[in-house]
Amino acid sequence: MKLFRLTLLAAALSPLALSSAMAQNTNKLKVGLMLPYTGTFAALGNAIENGFRLHVMEQGGKLGGREIEFVKVDDESDPAKATDNVNKLIKRDNVDVLIGTVHSGVAMAMAKVAKDTGTLLIVPNAGADAVTGPMCAPNIFRSSFSNWQPGYAMGEVVAKKGHKKVVTITWKYAAGDESVRGFKESFEKGGGKVVKELSLPFPNVEFQALLTEIAATKPDAVYTFFAGGGAVKFVKDYAGAGLKKTIPLYGAGFLTDGTLEAQGADADGLETALHYADSLGTKRDNEFRLAYAKTFKLQPDVYAVQGYDAAQMLAAGLKGVKGDTSKKAEFAAAVEATKIDSPRGPFTVSKAHNPVQDIYLRKVVGKENTLVSVASKGLADPARGCKM
Ligand code: PHB
Repeated sequence: MKLFRLTLLAAALSPLALSSAMAQNTNKLKVGLMLPYTGTFAALGNAIENGFRLHVMEQGGKLGGREIEFVKVDDESDPAKATDNVNKLIKRDNVDVLIGTVHSGVAMAMAKVAKDTGTLLIVPNAGADAVTGPMCAPNIFRSSFSNWQPGYAMGEVVAKKGHKKVVTITWKYAAGDESVRGFKESFEKGGGKVVKELSLPFPNVEFQALLTEIAATKPDAVYTFFAGGGAVKFVKDYAGAGLKKTIPLYGAGFLTDGTLEAQGADADGLETALHYADSLGTKRDNEFRLAYAKTFKLQPDVYAVQGYDAAQMLAAGLKGVKGDTSKKAEFAAAVEATKIDSPRGPFTVSKAHNPVQDIYLRKVVGKENTLVSVASKGLADPARGCKM
């Protein structure tokens, strides 16, 4: 009898308890996609959005119990417009969470605003070291990589191959600079020397003068960071200049990801380092690739994976706070405690909120970045300057 009365009491109290702090928020969740939909990175932005949407679809249109509503801005990979664009999403559209972007310079502007306003931000590509370094914050996350990661992994590989003298070539902005810095760090530790660092402004693709300089310098190898449309042209021009036959070209894997259709035979045999490959052959990746291809009539690439995982990270955080995005510390704790079941292989999120992940050595065979080996197991970005 006493037990019965207690049960009744609990039942009477439960609606009260539900309306308190841990009640499930079931309002729509506004997701602001700030991505490049035009310019040299347009294909990357679309792949990220597709990947994100695929995970949401697989969850029946909801993450953390909340239906997802999208608002989109084309950031044009233009850092000069970045602050205005991100403010539009926050102030005009009142988004609950920001997803963006591809370009490191734009992402740093987004991170600054996110930090100042406390808005949740998940970066689905841009590797800017600062985002999970000096700018790190409880409300800022990355589902992709730091520019340092693939560069560092490739430097070790190129040193082990016995190359001594390397020329680097990239766009002159955070991503290019930091990718080269990561490469140089491990390559020189391994006994090599970067003898020349060549660059041109983003997003220029007038490579001829620089290719002539490479030919004249006669290094043992070249390391490069280019991506998207610029990577297509660079690989074609490198082969066109006759350099592919004489000086091996290595890169961060963006050089050949999402680009192989357009690069054709000029990309054949290129070796790059990245946190994804086309032939991982795991059940998880096979299922992802099949679902992506069926849904979008396109082959997925690293950008699609990063978009998909941004949605997975958001879902993990939302689950931990029952959909209440105002609980920043609890949201962060939930993401940090989750192993993300990524198509790339499972990864954890560091204290600075960057993936701790395997970096693969890949080789282009036909239209695929085939897996050669794990170049670096569980590589964590050093998160220099992050105080959190
Ligand atoms: C970047 O700007 O951080 C960036 C852009 C494109 C990539 C990778 C990194 O593919």
